[in-house]
Amino acid sequence: MSEHVRNLPYDPTKFKRETLPHYISMTDGEITEILQILGLHSLDELFDHLPDNIKFKNEFNMGKALSYNDLIEHVTNVANKNKIMTSYVGDGLKNYNIEKIVDDVCSIRGLTTAYTPYQPERGQGTLWSLYLFSNAIHALTGFEAVNASMYDRSTCLFEALSASTKISKNKNTVLLLESNYPGDIEVVQTLRKHTSLNVILVPFNKSTGLTDLSVVKDYVEKYQTDLASIAFPQVNCVGNIENFSGLTEICEDHKLLSIAVIDPMLISTEGLLPPSQYGKKGTNFFVAEGQHLALAPNFGGPGLGIFGTRYNETDKLSIRATPGRYIGKTIDHDGNDAVTMILSTREQHIRRDKASSNICSNQAFIATLAGAALLSRGSKGITKSFKIARKNTENLYNLITSFEGFKPQFPNTTFVNEFCVSLPINTSDFLKMARKDQLELGIDVSERLKAKNANVLLISCSDIQTDEDYRKVESFLLKKFKKTSTSLIAPKIPEKYLRPDQVKLPAFKREELFDFYQKLGEQNVSPDDNIYPLGSCTMKYNPLVNDYLAGLPGITNLHPQTNELNAQGSLQILYEIADLFKQITGLAGVALQPVAGAQGELVGIKMFQAYHADHSKGQTRNIILIPKSAHGTNPATSTMAGFITKEANGSAQGIIEICANSHGQIDMNQLKEVVSKYHQQIAGIMVTNPNTSGIFETNFKEMADLIHSVGGLVYMDGANMNAIAGIVNLDKLGVDAVHNNLHKTWSIPHGGGGPGDAIVAVSKKLIDYIPGTQVKLSNGVYEIFHAPKSIGSFHRHHGNFAHKVRGYSYLLALGTEGVIKMSSIAVLSARYLFHRLGKAFPTLPENTQTIPRMHEFILTLTKEDFDRIQKIGIPRTNIIPQIGKLFLDFGVHAPTVAFPEAFGLMIEPTESFSKKELDRFCDIVFCIRKILDEYPNILISAPHFTPIKKVDEVKANKDIKLNINIDRLPSVLPNKITPHALDSMSINEIFERILKAHEEYK
Ligand SMILES: Cc1ncc(COP(=O)(O)O)c(C=O)c1O
Repeated sequence: MSEHVRNLPYDPTKFKRETLPHYISMTDGEITEILQILGLHSLDELFDHLPDNIKFKNEFNMGKALSYNDLIEHVTNVANKNKIMTSYVGDGLKNYNIEKIVDDVCSIRGLTTAYTPYQPERGQGTLWSLYLFSNAIHALTGFEAVNASMYDRSTCLFEALSASTKISKNKNTVLLLESNYPGDIEVVQTLRKHTSLNVILVPFNKSTGLTDLSVVKDYVEKYQTDLASIAFPQVNCVGNIENFSGLTEICEDHKLLSIAVIDPMLISTEGLLPPSQYGKKGTNFFVAEGQHLALAPNFGGPGLGIFGTRYNETDKLSIRATPGRYIGKTIDHDGNDAVTMILSTREQHIRRDKASSNICSNQAFIATLAGAALLSRGSKGITKSFKIARKNTENLYNLITSFEGFKPQFPNTTFVNEFCVSLPINTSDFLKMARKDQLELGIDVSERLKAKNANVLLISCSDIQTDEDYRKVESFLLKKFKKTSTSLIAPKIPEKYLRPDQVKLPAFKREELFDFYQKLGEQNVSPDDNIYPLGSCTMKYNPLVNDYLAGLPGITNLHPQTNELNAQGSLQILYEIADLFKQITGLAGVALQPVAGAQGELVGIKMFQAYHADHSKGQTRNIILIPKSAHGTNPATSTMAGFITKEANGSAQGIIEICANSHGQIDMNQLKEVVSKYHQQIAGIMVTNPNTSGIFETNFKEMADLIHSVGGLVYMDGANMNAIAGIVNLDKLGVDAVHNNLHKTWSIPHGGGGPGDAIVAVSKKLIDYIPGTQVKLSNGVYEIFHAPKSIGSFHRHHGNFAHKVRGYSYLLALGTEGVIKMSSIAVLSARYLFHRLGKAFPTLPENTQTIPRMHEFILTLTKEDFDRIQKIGIPRTNIIPQIGKLFLDFGVHAPTVAFPEAFGLMIEPTESFSKKELDRFCDIVFCIRKILDEYPNILISAPHFTPIKKVDEVKANKDIKLNINIDRLPSVLPNKITPHALDSMSINEIFERILKAHEEYK
């Protein structure tokens, strides 16, 4: 074992897929065997039905794969190029000490690698984690409904503003205080472009560093008739405490909705007033960043958007206009306590173009970690951190103002743990000097204050700075500046800004918490152990080495607002991963910011809008074409971007759905008709390829040419890249933009719902419109730049950076050969299962049995089967979801049920599993066939061996129970038979046990 491997905190040989070449379990012998069964001679033949002119020839080059040891050495060396200094940089992303429980929970594979808990009986682990997170935030804020969870504070802010306009019916204007973080404002402005949301910025007073209430009142008067809400920070972008109660009262007096932007670390006992206590009744919404509750800065991501709304006697409706996931308490069939996702009728997979947002993958795992960290700290621990942060601030304020020329920028305002100081020299020169002493002494906010010739520094403190850090600052200042005999004392925080009550949130011991979360992990399943056949979700093995490398201190501890020269390692990763995705897609440019597939879609569609605004010569392109079978995020994204579906003057607008032909592919005849009818009205098309039935769109190029011929653009939903990466050149295919879900094809763990990351690649046409940051290499130095016509920013920094490190590590471990093999074995595995299982079940789309499948396929039942099973009392639409529950009885996860076909089970095996594992899966499906034929009643009682029986989701949605008092940790029910034990039984034995369990079912 070589040196780097020996020093790992885990033993890679203990994980059966960890050290396999390209993490692929199938042996060469097994590959040959399957090829023979399928009547094929080579893996290349799997792609014979794809047109030759869209394939890579020899131009696909990712380089040679690195060995496990070399990979660790390489990424460690890159990480070491980052310079981590004593830091007083906080601004929009604070940096607190991280609770040790976070590392513990990160090691629980049942929690890190599970998918979104769409099967509550197999997802109680994730669901309880999220429920506890929501309730810990509920304890702090007083808000009943806390979403679990959303991308980050900026997108939350946009979602809150949008929700306020929905609730205020027909009022589309919102006031956004300019004293919010500029990065958040930029994201809101980017997202609102081309939509009906009218965002008015209210300037703050640059001499007081506060927003004048009289100015806000003037704006309210001016926009009153169309005004829905006001969004304001509790602590603003220059560190000052705004008059948050005064602002809330303005909202109350004018019947406007109020949105508070808060920091949860500041509102525990003895801290600042929580948003539920502002004004007379508290605000309607609050939004916050939660990354610092659980993670170090990680160069800006993954973040955690925290979003709260009211759900009480006076307001039970607002919640229905809000986006994202809420978890509610219910019971299972046996009356046991259970939790499940609720209110999902607002979500994109149900409401499609009427969804309240397009978010699908989100930051669930960061919410899990934040929940664990809050339970580890308890309210007392948070108060302690608050007090340390405040003490550090007071000490530093006192120190800095004792030097000649250092003056408080706002002498008459109060702050908590950040303050602005006016410097005697140029701010950037000052920061450069400090860096020579290994200090990151804040950020330059002179421009934020729009004050000419001002030199203003914003310094942030937390519980992270020590006495030694203080002395380091002191000795730096003493070396360069003159100390005077006077100094200032930080102004006291006025009583009215402080919380009067005690927060009830106990702290639990690390061991107790770890044990609890481990038990929760056992309630889920992981692709570590077994096939996880969720179609479209690509639940492949997630290498541990990726997590290890993403956790290197050089990677995690870097703040995104650090100087570029300190961030050369992280910038190198961004630069190289962008390059790798240009290789993978064959396209010319890359957007690094999108944090999930759905956000990638939005980036693509908004680039289309910007391109058309420049090229359409007065023509309004207001139609987007989307196949009927598309994932719900596609229509939800288009609507969110501003494509509102309606008839106007006898003409269609917004989304036009395209049907499938008898081959399960886009109906080119319908497409041609639509294109000839609407030609220059068409902005573009969004197509998933291979499509959601697992069929490659062999007419894609023809379709793209047709769309291009009328000036439209082509978006490819790249959720299924796992089938074609390294094989198909998307440039040759005619793609203008595509997202690559790093949390699917590129192996990063799904975390029970996210975070994801979704690098978007674009054609030459769109390169100038790429949003956010890009990285170039000039004279050996990595530098950030922006595209000349950038459409703005979707993330305050570089997206979910830590996940890019995981993706980067995976790509280096695969190399050219590995990427091609990954796609080939993913397709081989699916083709093999399709070959075997297609004999026992009909497949969908109808009459497409002979069309080759790529990485996934859909099984269904015959009409006779449905009729027969319906007669035993199971509603027709419940039959497929109930069959999904039967899979859980065999210790595996269910396939995707009822999507994209309402009566289908979509199976995607991925490349991670051996033939032996695939054969066992076939045996499971054959056993399910036998149950359906001979014992269909069993469907009623399934699942039988999960920790809880079937969950009462109807009750959960009718009688919404969002809150518990966390006075102890909930008891965790064990599996009746663990997935591991089931895996060691014969299928027949499991069958016998199912029969017995069914007989005992009451
Ligand atoms: C085909 C397809 N498109 C888009 C998405 C949305 O991606 P994300 O969940 O990363 O937002 C998914 C997610 O399952 C998908 O399967």
